[in-house]
Amino acid sequence: MEKLAVLGCGVVGSGVVELFEKNKQLIQKRCGKQLELAYILDLRDFPDKPYADKVVKDIQVILNDPEVSVVAECMGGVNPAFDFVKSCLEAGKSVSTSNKELVAAKGDILLKKAKEHDCNFFFEASVGGAIPIIRPLHKCLAANEFSAIAGILNGTTNFILNKMIKENMDFSSALALAQEKGYAEKDPTADIEGYDACRKICILSSLAFGKHVYPESVYTKGIREVELKDAKFCGQLGYSIKLIARVQKLDNGKILPAVLPMAVEEDNLLSQVNGVYNAIMVRGDGIGKAMFYGKGAGKFPTASAVLGDMIEQLQLEHTCISQTWQNIHDNSFIENFASFAAKYYFRTSSADVHQLTEIFGEIQEKTISTDEEETVFLTASPLNERELDKAVKTLAQNHIQVLAKYPVLES
Ligand code: NDP
Ligand code: HSE
Repeated sequence: MEKLAVLGCGVVGSGVVELFEKNKQLIQKRCGKQLELAYILDLRDFPDKPYADKVVKDIQVILNDPEVSVVAECMGGVNPAFDFVKSCLEAGKSVSTSNKELVAAKGDILLKKAKEHDCNFFFEASVGGAIPIIRPLHKCLAANEFSAIAGILNGTTNFILNKMIKENMDFSSALALAQEKGYAEKDPTADIEGYDACRKICILSSLAFGKHVYPESVYTKGIREVELKDAKFCGQLGYSIKLIARVQKLDNGKILPAVLPMAVEEDNLLSQVNGVYNAIMVRGDGIGKAMFYGKGAGKFPTASAVLGDMIEQLQLEHTCISQTWQNIHDNSFIENFASFAAKYYFRTSSADVHQLTEIFGEIQEKTISTDEEETVFLTASPLNERELDKAVKTLAQNHIQVLAKYPVLES
């Protein structure tokens, strides 16, 4: 008999407990072992739940039980999750976590700890909820040199944008619904301002390029300023506005990760990803392009990924196969966002095509003059930050006000 423990019994943790108990026979068969979910650590009691008798308040109970071999961490936050996970690994207990904040901040340290203690630190659930992406990057696609990753990595914001655009729901009601469904972070600012997607692109970048990418070095902008009218105009031009997390390997060998709302062309699969669904496009020299798609948040989709990690650990016995990346505090391998270049969607005060062509050299033919005497257009060529800045200044000198602008995601 092997014992399992779950730290944190909120949305994800309770999903892990319930999905494990529901599919226990199947899971035991797949692991070839008798299993017992022995402990649930939480601050609260759950007197009405069938697992009430498993609840403990002290991590030492779990650390001191030698029969506990695999632990799921679903508490969230860096502290005390970091101390608890580190202690589990030091005790030789493998850990599976859904906590991307922890992995993005301390993944390098915890991966090293796991190796030193001959156990594993797994985090499939930390990016893309139910979508298998960590293991494919680490294993199935390991023969590739990666050149780019771009995805919709936050279910809450994708759900909110969808509700606003398709159902005319206001921002606050859409957020409240995402919270009710268990998609949002404890502090939903992390979703709205893009910090959650930033943590996820940090994890994918670290894994794909082999060096720890810290959230502080990633340009991050959320959806707070996205206006419904731009979503509508973008739609008329054949684009959707999505919160995109992306990283690209540049010719100079550096990487450029960023999170920002972008206009995504309709023939790009990412533009068709709606509601709580996430999708991740990976580019590699062997595969060309591969796309991963599924539910990016929620109780059981996330629990499925946490349990998948736990099952792999149980099948592995004591082999350490954790992915790993370099612990690095010099972030000079990350290119400054000033080098970011893209074509742009612009909404400006009224302007004519002649004026715009003089400023931008060329603009795409798709130009709309709106009822409110605004002009909406797309640039024909990519602009970097310096060129963008110059264009905005020249527009101002011509008495043309920039009301909104979004970079276009490269196809
Ligand atoms: P919840 O807030 O619903 O659950 C966290 C649970 O952990 C709560 O029951 C909380 O208790 C408990 N907890 C917090 N601190 C401690 C502590 N020191 N000791 C014991 N228990 C503690 O969060 P979620 O389940 O939504 O998320 C958990 C993690 O999974 C987060 O890192 C989140 O980012 C990640 N995640 C969430 C997804 C989702 O769809 N919700 C999807 C993918 C990842 P209390 O409520 O009393 O504070
Ligand atoms: N708050 C996160 C989201 C949970 O909405 O994507 C899944 O990581």
